[in-house]
Amino acid sequence: MTIFYTQNNLKTFVEAQKSEGKTIGFVPTMGALHEGHLSLVRNAMTSNDIVFVSVFVNPTQFDNATDLEKYPRTLDADVELLKTLGKNIFVYAPSVADIYNSDVNAEKFSFDGLEFEMEGKFRKGHFDGVGTIVKRLFEIITPHNAYFGEKDFQQLMIIKKLASKYKLPVNVIGCEIYREPSGLAMSSRNQRLSENARKESAFIYKTLLEAKKKFGTKSAMQVKEWVQKQFNKHPLLTLEYVEIANIKNLKTVKRKSKNQTYRIFIAAFIENIRLIDNIALN
Ligand code: PAF
Repeated sequence: MTIFYTQNNLKTFVEAQKSEGKTIGFVPTMGALHEGHLSLVRNAMTSNDIVFVSVFVNPTQFDNATDLEKYPRTLDADVELLKTLGKNIFVYAPSVADIYNSDVNAEKFSFDGLEFEMEGKFRKGHFDGVGTIVKRLFEIITPHNAYFGEKDFQQLMIIKKLASKYKLPVNVIGCEIYREPSGLAMSSRNQRLSENARKESAFIYKTLLEAKKKFGTKSAMQVKEWVQKQFNKHPLLTLEYVEIANIKNLKTVKRKSKNQTYRIFIAAFIENIRLIDNIALN
């Protein structure tokens, strides 16, 4: 498998592929690949001639130095996993300098308010960091199609906004959340959970499913209060937020309307590890 460590080499290769009329799919990751990432790559492989997977732990999207330091870095294992999927996969594993030169700072973006909801309230500057890296990666790889998991649903909406605002010629495609058999949404952070915490974290998805049932007959506020109560009773999980939002603008739902589409979002801590999840409500 070819691994590109610098954008210059990669750009030459991409130009040659495009001149042969090949379509390029792209799956950006921060590594520590799991089945969720692999399902994105499989998706990309079905509709593109070649697929790029970037493996880069992006420093500007972390608001917490310990989280950045502890983020798992497992390039060799990641490459081995990707090899099992097929031949037309290429890895871009740049250094921080290849992406940022000496200026390791995020650009400032406006995503028309999407960035101030949910994750934006708890992770200051996070979406500027995500916008910076994804825009740069799109400009380097120039993919036709890029694939993102719905676990980070707010990120997916923000990247769609980024592509449309900057007229980036890429289709941004959202893919369903890939779950462990227990229902826990797959995440690289799951690797850091103890066996017990991993088992207990299935509570998040279970609660989301119950909340969905309640949303049929109760108000958004009542459902959120119910979720808060469930987490208050849980011995290990601490709820950071529960939100029920309209998927168009990610604003909190005050009154339900039949023509609108809603999702419920949760962020919670267990063993100091932050997990997020969400599901569609209607
Ligand atoms: O979702 C992620 O893993 C990251 O936010 C991304 C999109 C790879 C950007 O660093």
